[in-house]
Amino acid sequence: DYLIGMANAAKMKATVPVILHLDHGPHFVLVMKCIRSGFDSIMYDGSHHPLEQNIQETKRVVEACHAVGIDVEGELGRIAGAEDDLSVDEREAMLVIPEEARRLVDETGIDALAPAIGSAHGHYKGEPKLHFDRLNEIRDLVKIPLVLHGGTGIPDSDIQRAIALGVAKINVNTENQDVFTRTVREVLLTSPKMFDPRKYLGPARAAIKETIRAKIRLFGSHQRA
Ligand code: 13P
Repeated sequence: DYLIGMANAAKMKATVPVILHLDHGPHFVLVMKCIRSGFDSIMYDGSHHPLEQNIQETKRVVEACHAVGIDVEGELGRIAGAEDDLSVDEREAMLVIPEEARRLVDETGIDALAPAIGSAHGHYKGEPKLHFDRLNEIRDLVKIPLVLHGGTGIPDSDIQRAIALGVAKINVNTENQDVFTRTVREVLLTSPKMFDPRKYLGPARAAIKETIRAKIRLFGSHQRA
């Protein structure tokens, strides 16, 4: 209820469209609760299910969401945690299979697809390896916007290449959390007597705002809402 109140305030004040989006919705019931309470956009993540079940469950979510005019993002392949200890083979096995992506899109009617192409959530141990060949193949088979999860730590040049190959939405979380927490830590270390949250949350908010501003420019979204 508080989040929805905040989103509504932002919608009234902002000069660009504001969308309250559920990320990685794990099941139908939560999706329904979110729609009922005022979310504008849904991701249903059925990627932990075998393909047929992912198709079935995603389709059920799409039918319910489309009935009330809400778009749905689906996921295929597995987007792991960057810190998970997986071998190269294990990571490769999680990549999306293009023909399966085509089936998920055609058989469910999703509006956007997050295909696993090598990115992961959290901090990468080394340089992440995005599989652009897969992205290309999917782009040819699937005509809806593609979504890149695990945006933190992907080099800027790879981000831009992914956008050029059809990625239309990029999820970044860890990097924002990092800069926020680092700023709180710095402020508290330099001012150990500080106790008023309003005093240390302000600089942290400004820092996260700067990070997001830079992403908007990197993604080419500036002045394009
Ligand atoms: P990161 O935390 O790695 O940026 O990933 C965010 C994300 O994909 C959320 O869905």
